[in-house]
Amino acid sequence: MGLPPFIIVAIDGGAASGKSSSSKILADRFNLLHVDTGSFYRHITYELLRRSVTHTDHAALLAVLPELKFSTRLHGRSAQMLIDGQPAAGEIRGRHVNDHVSHYAAIPEVRQALLAYQRGQVAVAKQHGFRGLVMEGRDIGSVIFPDAGFRFFLHADPGERVRRRESEGHNDSIAERDRLDSSRKTSPLTCPAGAIDIDTTHLTLAQVVEKMAASIAVKSD
Ligand code: CDP
Ligand code: CDP
Repeated sequence: MGLPPFIIVAIDGGAASGKSSSSKILADRFNLLHVDTGSFYRHITYELLRRSVTHTDHAALLAVLPELKFSTRLHGRSAQMLIDGQPAAGEIRGRHVNDHVSHYAAIPEVRQALLAYQRGQVAVAKQHGFRGLVMEGRDIGSVIFPDAGFRFFLHADPGERVRRRESEGHNDSIAERDRLDSSRKTSPLTCPAGAIDIDTTHLTLAQVVEKMAASIAVKSD
């Protein structure tokens, strides 16, 4: 008997659409490695800001990006990206990174620098005995794993998303990041053809997870 098939679950959507909360629950339920690619873009932003490489300084970006060495360590079921062997030395979910991350994420060379690393999380998951991985972001079902067995796109009304973030004590440039993420030329935020589109505005987190879990269970059990 061969190994059971490795499962890839791709979850995309705008800020506070429910990606992280739902993917962590799915990771527990189906024994998947949880990969939050937003945290990768946040860490690289933190690092570039630390090195005073602005998003408009193309020459400096081209010089620095190949120097950054990415690796992964596990934090529970989640993949944590290390740059040159280190986690981010400061806050990657604070105002400073929130205000800059979508500018760096719109640069094709920044996205290219993370491409192979993101796909390489499959090997990390296999190495650690996970049954698959659940990866969340903006371009997972469209660019990183367009052939993933399960692709979901979450959305919710902007007012509801701001309310969700505020109830977590954050106010984090949601509208501006969505505008930049949706309008960029390279890998814009969009629901890829064939993905299951879920409007989470009036759903509880549990209801969202049940919809996704039902479709995963039907095809993978
Ligand atoms: O948690 P939240 O949804 O607010 O954001 P995030 O997932 O942490 O992502 C932060 C930023 O990284 C996004 O606003 C995008 O600019 C960028 N990002 C991206 O361009 N592509 C991805 N696959 C993931 C994040
Ligand atoms: O990862 P992303 O930025 O897409 O969103 P999240 O961090 O998973 O969700 C933001 C907040 O909204 C969390 O506190 C969730 O518990 C909450 N949430 C909710 O109230 N209802 C949902 N259907 C989904 C998420």
